[in-house]
Amino acid sequence: MIQKAIIPAAGYGIRNLPITKAIPKELFPIGNRPAIDYVVKEAIDAGITDILIILSRNKTEIMNYFDRSMELEAHLRTIHKESMLPIIAPAKVNIQYIRQYEALGLGHAVSLGQSFAANEPFAVMLPDQINLHQNSLLLPLIRNYEKHRTNVIGLQSVDPKLLSQYGVASAVQVQRRIYEVASIVEKPAYDPPSQLAVMGRYIVEPGIFELLKTTKPGIGGEIQLTDALNQMGMTRKAIGYVYKERWYDTSIEHDYLKIQQRAYQLHKKRKQ
Ligand code: G1P
Repeated sequence: MIQKAIIPAAGYGIRNLPITKAIPKELFPIGNRPAIDYVVKEAIDAGITDILIILSRNKTEIMNYFDRSMELEAHLRTIHKESMLPIIAPAKVNIQYIRQYEALGLGHAVSLGQSFAANEPFAVMLPDQINLHQNSLLLPLIRNYEKHRTNVIGLQSVDPKLLSQYGVASAVQVQRRIYEVASIVEKPAYDPPSQLAVMGRYIVEPGIFELLKTTKPGIGGEIQLTDALNQMGMTRKAIGYVYKERWYDTSIEHDYLKIQQRAYQLHKKRKQ
């Protein structure tokens, strides 16, 4: 059973400046909910009971969003708007927070979760990758972990022009949607090994933490999760699960506008 998830949310949001000077990317609105709320819901729907969110200095608003607001609750009662209380109730999951003091990379952010993981396999969910599916897209990764007992990586076939923005898998298909991943090339400038990009969802075995301790800064001068995963893959290959569902990357303006539009359409449809 996978019960824990780490959500790294400590980046500067460089691609979205200047708005990210004031609003963390994870709190960008999608309909009337912030982006990270969709990720937390996806985790809960997959059976996750404990979440660790990695924050940086300007991200305290994320903690406030998931906290209870007694004052607002009391106010809603006073003005007889009790029907709105469920909308502001905190998510039914145990959320912990830790601060990453320096932006040293995704691998470093994940390494801060060692005592949280307590030697159990865990999910990593990158909050700039969002989907609007009713069913949790983390669940198929968990199922595959239970079956294969090795790291599982969510993949999606993307437009070759975009591959240089992702980790790209060198992988061989073994079943429908299932690949054996030989390695991942992080943000290949040329000659990507395939069209299968890493989609920001992983199930990782706790052995990653020892490797992250000695992982040297990689591309962009950052400690990359990809590099530690590749090292683990040398002893036991990871499984790649290929998503057919639509993912949106909130760091890409065009994708962000699209998800807002789609969330609005879905909202209207539900109200009908
Ligand atoms: C990270 C990972 C990359 C993955 C991407 C998905 O990169 O390192 O392998 O494809 O997330 O969003 P980042 O976007 O944090 O630079």
